[in-house]
Amino acid sequence: MSFPDDRPRRLRRTPALRRLVRETHLRADQLLLPCFVAEGVPERRAISTMPGVFQETVDSLMSLATEAAGLGLAGLVLFGVPGRKDDVGSSAWDDQGIVQVALRRLRSEFGDRLLLVADDCLDEYTVHGHCGVLDARGDVDNDRTLELYQRIALSQAAAGADVIAPSGMMDGQVGAIREALDSAGQTSVLILAYAAKFASCFYGPFREAADCAPQFGDRRGYQMDPANRREAMRELESDLLEGADILMVKPGLSYLDLVREARDHFDAPLACFSVSGEYAMLHAAAATGALDLRQAVMESHLSMRRAGADVVLTYFAREISRWLREDG
Ligand code: PBG
Repeated sequence: MSFPDDRPRRLRRTPALRRLVRETHLRADQLLLPCFVAEGVPERRAISTMPGVFQETVDSLMSLATEAAGLGLAGLVLFGVPGRKDDVGSSAWDDQGIVQVALRRLRSEFGDRLLLVADDCLDEYTVHGHCGVLDARGDVDNDRTLELYQRIALSQAAAGADVIAPSGMMDGQVGAIREALDSAGQTSVLILAYAAKFASCFYGPFREAADCAPQFGDRRGYQMDPANRREAMRELESDLLEGADILMVKPGLSYLDLVREARDHFDAPLACFSVSGEYAMLHAAAATGALDLRQAVMESHLSMRRAGADVVLTYFAREISRWLREDG
């Protein structure tokens, strides 16, 4: 006697059957496009290792946003490249800072058509390139940094951000930002928490894109050790308890085991960030002819969704949306 499912290939015979039983889908409205906006530059500047990605001017960012909205993307994640850096990163909470200016323009031109996510961190704004302020010994001072993250969040929320995304991995950053937002009456501004963010070599191209390479040392004193899974679960849990609305694992591809584990443990919406190095890697492989770019991008992003990510932050968001449309 044969078992009922001894012929699983029956389900794969035709495209219609394959579509019928497909379990996971990519959707443009679950993709967020990370963008860089630079202050005081006459025209947008290409990033050498990320084909098609630029440091935008405020004007060119508006064209990018028009394209993103037309493609049905969920929204934009803004990273600022300030014209002026100092020891504490004060242009990050300047109401006339580049991200604040961009947020106000985007809000007035696009209303609620695009979600506006603002990265809340200091590394792009400090001369030393670390994600927080330094103490006398040159270590990142956690609690003084929290006060600055609060100021940044308030200024970004006032400029029109829907979502604040703290990415510096300071202890207590989600709770501190939630408290500041609530006391300012910004109770409907969300927090997307970079909860399990690893000290990864895959951020390489971002450091050129956002001009934020640490001038000494590295980020292993605050970002997580890539070896640690249980610790990642503790980080995710504490961010949830501190009031995170959406949890995130970062990077994407090498950390999909954690996306799956987070999905199984927590009911909160879950994001993963397919980072700059993943973008550069796929482009580089495709340029040699080793991979077909479109297939590689679709397969790798589908894997993130299959692992359990509701939301994907990806530099490929526009291409994915276009390809989904072509596929019908
Ligand atoms: C820090 C920040 C980084 C990224 C997002 N936020 C750089 C870092 O932690 O070194 C990396 C994103 C990417 O590589 O695409 N503000």
